[in-house]
Amino acid sequence: MKPLFALLPSATFGLGAALQDTGRPYDTGMSSRAAWPNGPFVTSGRWIRDASGQTVTYAGTNWPGHGETMVPEGLQYQSIETIVGMIKSLGMNAVRLTFAIQMIDEIYANGGNDITLERAFVQALGQTNGTRVLGQVLAKNPRFTRSTTRLEVFDAVAEELYKQQIYVHLDNHVSKAQWCCSGTDGDTWWGDRNFNTANWVRGLSYMAKHGKSWPALMSIGLRNEPREPQNNPALTWSSYNWQSWSSFMRQGAAAVNQANPDLLIFLSGLNYDTTLTPVVQGTALTPGNGRFRFEDFPANKLVLELHTYEGGVNSCSTLQNNLYRNGFQTLQGGPGINVFPMMLTEFGFLMDDRTWRGVYASCLASYLPAQKAGWTIWVLAGSYYTRQGIQDFDETWGLLNHNWSGWRSPSYIEGALKAMVRNTLS
Ligand SMILES: *[C@@H]1O[C@H](CO)[C@@H](O)[C@H](O)[C@H]1NC(C)=O
Ligand SMILES: *[C@@H]1O[C@H](CO)[C@@H](O)[C@H](O)[C@H]1NC(C)=O
Repeated sequence: MKPLFALLPSATFGLGAALQDTGRPYDTGMSSRAAWPNGPFVTSGRWIRDASGQTVTYAGTNWPGHGETMVPEGLQYQSIETIVGMIKSLGMNAVRLTFAIQMIDEIYANGGNDITLERAFVQALGQTNGTRVLGQVLAKNPRFTRSTTRLEVFDAVAEELYKQQIYVHLDNHVSKAQWCCSGTDGDTWWGDRNFNTANWVRGLSYMAKHGKSWPALMSIGLRNEPREPQNNPALTWSSYNWQSWSSFMRQGAAAVNQANPDLLIFLSGLNYDTTLTPVVQGTALTPGNGRFRFEDFPANKLVLELHTYEGGVNSCSTLQNNLYRNGFQTLQGGPGINVFPMMLTEFGFLMDDRTWRGVYASCLASYLPAQKAGWTIWVLAGSYYTRQGIQDFDETWGLLNHNWSGWRSPSYIEGALKAMVRNTLS
């Protein structure tokens, strides 16, 4: 913890102490509640287990914090407490909280101090709108000031998730803070224009260590959606393969484990994290001959994560077969199969009154609970401070409506999502 404290602005201690004074209702009183979250978690075969050996499955949602402001979204519309309360009202027990490596790069560039909300909003939205939106954030979240830092906002989000007993899963979504993902955004693969490997390792390490002060932080994803650098054929040719994947994942996992040995470590696969087949099937990590070996990684800490956006699929068996072949086979095991816990950390669709009744959404709503596989739906956000050059971007796939005041598709929430959570956690 020492090197971490040296990097933090002193203001962090003030806020942290204030949160601790008021924020730990479970430290006294009933011992079963005091135990939550009962970590650190470990893996055993296909299961995640808490410190008393009980299995743990995540049923949750993605809360983006990796956009241009690098501040968790939605705070100009609602307080952190209200947003977390809405997640809780679904019965969910986990949040995949995304961050950009750029945030940590800026902390280092700024002498070890994170930048203020004022600077972050003005940098991302311009002077006029940045100032106005920050004013809205402060009105909804009066504990913050213009000079609160982004990391202190992450701290407050993590603290509130802890208070409401929701596990925090950190996800390194991008290096350069921007909407993800395309094949040409420079964030595709280690060595791409915006994706510096050393900065990535440093950023993972920093957040893993910083997260020691978040009691609900149980796990971290090393990198969201690795993919082919489509405008960099030399990088594709030299590095976009399973052999390099393995070496980068080992590097990232070692850095996280050294910084914070308590965390579970999530590995995502190639092609926008849609496939982990050679890892699960134990076949060659091409172009080399090596195979995946558990002993190359921290023991009992690895979880696999996949994404699927096959919204046009026309049969549930096709979707299930694809997921099985791409990695869910790990949950069944069998001769030669490497067994891990597997999670679907992204899937999502248009939040209207109809789409959730279609094949894709209804198939996942039954398949994932039946597999007892964890999941986090994309996405909580009803809007973004800014996305793809458009400020106050409306997220039509958001669980929440534009101003984060209610559900965008109440029929989905009541007709399917709450039951999916219940069936996963029962
Ligand atoms: C600033 O905010 C206003 C109101 O939401 C919007 O119309 C305008 O496009 C924003 N400016 C920029 C540069 O995006
Ligand atoms: C928020 O959005 C909802 C649904 O779009 C709308 O009915 C409501 O009036 C909005 N509230 C505010 C304060 O803008």
